[in-house]
Amino acid sequence: MKANETTKKIKANKLISSNERFRRKISFEILKGLFMNYHIVTYGCQMNLHESEKIAGVLKGLGYEKEVPLEEADIIVFNTCCIRENAENHAFGNIGALKKLKREKKYLLIAVGGCMTQEAGKAEILKKKFPFIDIIFGTHNLGELSSLIEQRRRVKKFLLSVHDERGETEDGISPVRTSYPNAWVNITYGCNNFCTYCIVPYVRGRERSRSAKDILREVEGLLEEGYKEITLLGQNVNSFNSDGRGEMSFPELLSACASFGGKYRVRFMTSHPKDFTRELASVMAKRENVCNLLHLPAQSGNNRILSLMNRRYTREKYLEEIAMLREMIPGCDVTSDLIVGFPTETEEEFQDTLSLVEEADFSSAFTFIYSPRTGTKAAAMEGKIDEETAKDRIMRLVEKVNENTRKKSARFVGKRTEILCEDFDEKKKLYLGRNEEGRMGYFASDKNLIGEFVTLRIGQANGVSLYGTEENRL
Ligand code: SAH
Ligand code: SF4
Ligand code: F3S
Repeated sequence: MKANETTKKIKANKLISSNERFRRKISFEILKGLFMNYHIVTYGCQMNLHESEKIAGVLKGLGYEKEVPLEEADIIVFNTCCIRENAENHAFGNIGALKKLKREKKYLLIAVGGCMTQEAGKAEILKKKFPFIDIIFGTHNLGELSSLIEQRRRVKKFLLSVHDERGETEDGISPVRTSYPNAWVNITYGCNNFCTYCIVPYVRGRERSRSAKDILREVEGLLEEGYKEITLLGQNVNSFNSDGRGEMSFPELLSACASFGGKYRVRFMTSHPKDFTRELASVMAKRENVCNLLHLPAQSGNNRILSLMNRRYTREKYLEEIAMLREMIPGCDVTSDLIVGFPTETEEEFQDTLSLVEEADFSSAFTFIYSPRTGTKAAAMEGKIDEETAKDRIMRLVEKVNENTRKKSARFVGKRTEILCEDFDEKKKLYLGRNEEGRMGYFASDKNLIGEFVTLRIGQANGVSLYGTEENRL
């Protein structure tokens, strides 16, 4: 699962509209009678993207009208990530940049939530560093956000509410979805795996499954609304129902999610290799609308490092799983997450990760330099890898991954592939959408085809991107 830290630096005081200039002059009391708008800044993984959709749902429930540029918002919510130090630094920088805006707009509310606030002592650090924050809330109490904002509107007092555990799996919040034609659907929250480098189990708590009944009801509703792609989300979807609350196994759930009428696709992420099964591969093979793409984070290709990471599988088992999958679905695309520079990793051990890229034939992979996270087991390990070595390793790894990506993309050239059109690229002036293998296909059209399945004939490949023409235009 990609945890892509937002790299865009926020410029708090860009050009502002005359409407905004007027709003800044009036009091909160008058402003309350006008339409108020929001802005959400999201960092991190797909889980967080979806959680931001729920935050938008909360804001709409409170009467905030729509999402506007940051400078024009009446409330700004930061949904943070702490998976690597980088992610935290971006959030710190961007929250800090709001100091001036907050001074100019007395009525502006700033709320900070997400994984960072759940880290031990982080909420206090945030408040100390940025006294202008109005509300800090955690990942376990999204349901409380509405009343926190209402309280803060009534009294000028800083509010902090971060819980250690989430009791219920249903928060009853209707999300404002922003990724049409795709819809994210949570199936589990939290994680029990405690990979030694990872902070997620500490900030998201123990794994909890939603009930299959609730999930299927949500999926059916989304399909009725016209969504064409459903992505099931969990830190380790394969262990769905480990607490018995799910009512069925993950392969059964996946199969049920794929069995409604009409044309649509189902994706899922993330799969943990220790729990990948033949049953799951066979649902992928049997169900045409379950995408033939498996994101299976390997993290390392070396058994000693995998054991130090507490991943609970070996390189050999990992490769056997992929072989089993490809026996059922010839050429099935597999993508991965890989970490370099884990404590004590030697050059030879890194070479095992390099060779895994080729042997596992990854279509692409997210690559990360190990980042120590306070409180995790690995952070206390000796044998830190120096920055220069880690940077050198990631550069070599990225090169290897890109080489494989190019090779895997080239096979689409001259062929037909079906994409689900999801957006229009203003710069390229082309429509775009992914095929089931996750490749982004670009094409020109005079008609808005967002939300439609389009067959392209591919003329050119560039990295993970494919360029083609609509089949019926040939
Ligand atoms: N639950 C998912 C991963 C979620 S985090 C899984 O297990 O597959 C997404 C990715 O971030 C991980 O797969 C890992 O590659 C990376 N990651 C997590 N913690 C990290 C750390 N401390 N340093 C560097 N990368 C890390
Ligand atoms: Fe982190 Fe491991 Fe859980 Fe993934 S499975 S969220 S890497 S602890
Ligand atoms: Fe996701 Fe980052 Fe939290 S990767 S689960 S937002 S720590």
